[in-house]
Amino acid sequence: MQPYSTTTTDTLDPEVHFQAKVDAEIRIEPKDWMPEAYRKTLIRQISQHAHSEIVGMLPEGNWITRAPSLRRKQILLAKVQDEGGHGLYLYAAAETLGVGRDQLLADLHSGKAKYSSIFNYPTLNWADIGAIGWLVDGAAIMNQIPLCRCSYGPYARAMQRICKEESFHQRQGFELLLSLSRGTEAQKAMAQDAINRWYWPSVMMFGPSDNDSAHSAQSMKWKIKRFSNDELRQRFVDMIAEQIKTLGLVVPDPELKWNEARGHYDFGPINWDEFWNVVNGNGPCNRQRLRARVDAYDKGAWVREAAAAYAEKRKQ
Ligand code: 3HC
Repeated sequence: MQPYSTTTTDTLDPEVHFQAKVDAEIRIEPKDWMPEAYRKTLIRQISQHAHSEIVGMLPEGNWITRAPSLRRKQILLAKVQDEGGHGLYLYAAAETLGVGRDQLLADLHSGKAKYSSIFNYPTLNWADIGAIGWLVDGAAIMNQIPLCRCSYGPYARAMQRICKEESFHQRQGFELLLSLSRGTEAQKAMAQDAINRWYWPSVMMFGPSDNDSAHSAQSMKWKIKRFSNDELRQRFVDMIAEQIKTLGLVVPDPELKWNEARGHYDFGPINWDEFWNVVNGNGPCNRQRLRARVDAYDKGAWVREAAAAYAEKRKQ
C-alpha cells in the first residue's frame, strides 16, 4: 500500500487524485469521481460477468430433470439458483455505475455484449455437471478471488459472497466426478469423456494470452484486475494437474509436464482459433443460448409489468 493523503493530492487534477486513491488501496465508491474510461471498463466487465452467470444457468439447467438421485437434483437446483443470484448481485453492481438493467439486457440480447465463451458448449452426459463444477467453477474462482480486491467497492463486495458460493460449487463437482471415477467402468469412462470435452474450453476461459489482451494493462493499473490472464491460467493448470491425480483420470494434454525450473506445469498449445470462433458467436451453442435468454425475457414480460404496477400502487 502506498501512502495517500488528501491534503497533498487535493489540488491535483482529478485523474491523479483518483489514481493515488487506487494506488493506496482506497476503494472507489459510486459517488466518487472516476475517469469515464474506468466507468466504461467496469460496465463492460461487470455486465459480461453478470450475463455469464445467467447464461451459465442454461447448460446445467438442462440436467435438472435428469439428475440421477434426489440428492443430486437438490444440489444441482441449489447451484443453478445460486448462479441466478450471482447475476442479480452483478447487475445491481453495474447499475451503480449509471447504466440501467434494461440496457444491459438489451445489449446481451442483440449480441453486442459478450458473455463467457465456456457456456457455448453442450452438456452431453451427466458427468458434464461434475466437470462444469470442478473445471468451470474452478477456473471461475481462480479468476474471481482476486476480484474481491477490485478497486471498485460494489463489485468487490458482490464478489466476496459469489466466491464463497462458487467454492461450494467446485467441491460438489469434484465430489460428483470422484463418485463416478470410483464406480463402474462405464461411469469412469463417462467422467473421462466429460473432462476431455471441458478441459480446454476451461483453460481458454481466462481470456486471450497476455500479448493479445487488449484491456489487461489498463485494468491492472486501475486494480480492477490483479493478475494477468496468463498468470491465472497457469495457476489453474497447476491446480488441476494435481487434483486429477485423486480422480485417477487424465487431462487431454499429452504435453502437461511438471517443470522443476519454473516451478509450474508446462502445457500444450491453446487452440486460439476455436476460442475466437466461440467468442465471435460461432460456437456449438451460441445461437441456442441467446435464443433461450431472449425467450425467457419475453415470457417474463408480464412479471415485470405486474411488479411495476404493484410498486406504483404502493407508492400511491
Ligand atoms: N469469453 C468471452 N469473451 C472473452 C473471454 C471469454 N472467456 N475472455 C476475454 N474475452 C473478451 C473480452 O471481453 C474482450 O472483449 P471486448 O473488448 O469486446 O469487451 C476481449 O476478449 C479481450 O480480452 P481481455 O483479456 O483484454 O479482456 P479483459 O481484460 O476484460 O479480461 C476476463 C477478460 C478475464 C474474462 C475479465 O473480463 C474478467 O475477469 N471478468 C470477470 C469474470 C468473468 O466475467 N467471468 C466469466 C465467467 S463467470 C462464470 O463462469 C460463472 C460461474 O458460475 C461458473
